[in-house]
Amino acid sequence: MTSTELTTNTSLFIPSPASPYQGDIARYWDQEARPVNLRLGDVDGLYHHHYGLGDVDHDSLGNAGDSGYEKKLVAELHRLESAQTEVLLGQLGSPGRDDTLVDAGCGRGGSMVMAHQRFGCKVEGVTLSSKQADFANERAHQLGIDDHVRARVCNMLGTPFETGQAAASWNNESSMYVDLEDLFAEHSRVLKVGGRYVTITGCWNPRYGQPSKWVSQINAHFECNIHSRREYLRAMANNRLVPQTVIDLTPQTLPYWELRATSSLVTGIEEAFIESYKDGSFQYVLIAADRV
Ligand SMILES: C[S@@+](CC[C@H](N)C(=O)[O-])C[C@H]1O[C@@H](n2cnc3c(N)ncnc32)[C@H](O)[C@@H]1O
Repeated sequence: MTSTELTTNTSLFIPSPASPYQGDIARYWDQEARPVNLRLGDVDGLYHHHYGLGDVDHDSLGNAGDSGYEKKLVAELHRLESAQTEVLLGQLGSPGRDDTLVDAGCGRGGSMVMAHQRFGCKVEGVTLSSKQADFANERAHQLGIDDHVRARVCNMLGTPFETGQAAASWNNESSMYVDLEDLFAEHSRVLKVGGRYVTITGCWNPRYGQPSKWVSQINAHFECNIHSRREYLRAMANNRLVPQTVIDLTPQTLPYWELRATSSLVTGIEEAFIESYKDGSFQYVLIAADRV
């Protein structure tokens, strides 16, 4: 496999041919430093680039005018984002300590750390961003778990993992950057027979008809390409991934968005998420599938 070296200090290769689009996404995430991600991660050192799930604990927040309210709000948003990861990990089955899990599109590594803490196993992550991989590896080093948790710069459509190496794999809000047939072909290759694949993702709702104007706004904001729910199920079926569980998480993510929209950390995309979840054109779903 030929490769393009990106930086010098992580295991840093995007298998060739990396597309110009993937170069854009690598740059996007290399430059990403939104307070909404960093300040939340600073709460306990788990850095996520995904959204939250569950009811807001209004008692813990107090009143909007109180001193310290903003700090409590940041902690609450972060709690909901970690709760989202717990929901994903809860669908991975029961990996043993000797198993390897693969986090495809691992970001700054928050989900990988939580997976290792929960199962004690090895977790291998890939991201297009060398900044994210370095960040995730540094956090694993600080936590003393770098012998179990590792991020690499790598295209998730062509990973260095061996065929059948992984007991489970997942995409946590990272499947909207790739072609789903290519993505699931690679997960199917890397997973052992009987292994578990899980995604949590936003997808457009076929019942709405086509991507709504809100979905188009979200695509433009994140430079991604949101797929429909139907495309997920079809591409899984084509790649030996048989859905075991499909959960519409939309009602559980709305409280997070409504709280976030009131904070000083808004990024401008909150209205598109809230309106599209409410008009039914966009859904936040979890799909867990067995590799057969
Ligand atoms: C929204 S972030 C999610 C990060 C992480 N899963 C989380 O929950 O915090 C999207 C991630 O997908 C990664 N990504 C997008 N396309 C990719 C590709 N082709 N190969 C590997 N990673 C990719 C980005 O580098 C980024 O880390």
